Amino acid sequence: MIENFAEKVGHAINYLPPVPVVMDELLKALNNEDVDINTLVRIISKDPSMSMNVLKVVNSAFYRLPYQVSAVDHALRMLGLKEITMICIACGAYKALAPSRSAQTFNLDEFWKHSVATGVIAKRLCKELKIGDKDIIYFLGLLHDVGKVILDRIAHDIYTMVIQTTYDESIPIREAEKRIIGESHDAVGGLIMKKWRLPPVFSHAAQYHHAVQEAPEENRSVVAIVSLANQMARVRFLGFGGDMSGVVFSDTDAFKVLEAASPAINEMDIVKFIWDLEEVDEEVIEMERLLSS
Ligand SMILES: [Fe+2]
Ligand SMILES: [Fe+2]
Repeated sequence: MIENFAEKVGHAINYLPPVPVVMDELLKALNNEDVDINTLVRIISKDPSMSMNVLKVVNSAFYRLPYQVSAVDHALRMLGLKEITMICIACGAYKALAPSRSAQTFNLDEFWKHSVATGVIAKRLCKELKIGDKDIIYFLGLLHDVGKVILDRIAHDIYTMVIQTTYDESIPIREAEKRIIGESHDAVGGLIMKKWRLPPVFSHAAQYHHAVQEAPEENRSVVAIVSLANQMARVRFLGFGGDMSGVVFSDTDAFKVLEAASPAINEMDIVKFIWDLEEVDEEVIEMERLLSS
């Protein structure tokens, strides 16, 4: 293990780009019960690239709106305050974390594909099981593995070793991270969410998606949705990481937590559910393109 690296990671996080101002203001506004649309429009419009991103996402296949939306206030009225705020959070996070293309250790496209797929699947599970907030759950899935990008940014060389070890020894990436770095992407993800002052459910989803049972009770079933979606995304898209193949879903902690919260999961035909995800391919591709453009 690299000496004191875990400590260094803690310090390095302080030097990461801060949360974009617009994201910070939006979250504050959203916490205020009587916030009105005009206030939010003003906040978003202050950041032209954010406004553009909101319109791009709102007009994407992901939302399937019947007509083109060309103004931020219209977008807000169509999708609601929370959904728009979440889009801004996703765009803000993506921007704050994007490394230069020349300096990346792992395949960033694969990474975001896995992240988007996890978000899309989490949203479907939320609908199916009626657990979690349907406006937020997608974004929890999208950001669950953000710690990987952060570790890669902090130390490309060392993270290259981690990735190599994962492949060479066919071990979960988390195990390689712990052995080589002393800190794993879930813990780091939790830290950045806190640093960005996102609502606690974000740091919980990032921090506990590999240890659902340890999640604070108030968010445990939501974390379980993200965790199960993460595993389904792996099976469905074999995204970044390569571990977790041959998983039996009903044996996972996530499944057990969900079973307790919503017995409906037992009636779900998981194989069919994953098979049907073919429909989300389009959403995954579209969202990935939007985020990375
Ligand atoms: Fe993960
Ligand atoms: Fe993941």
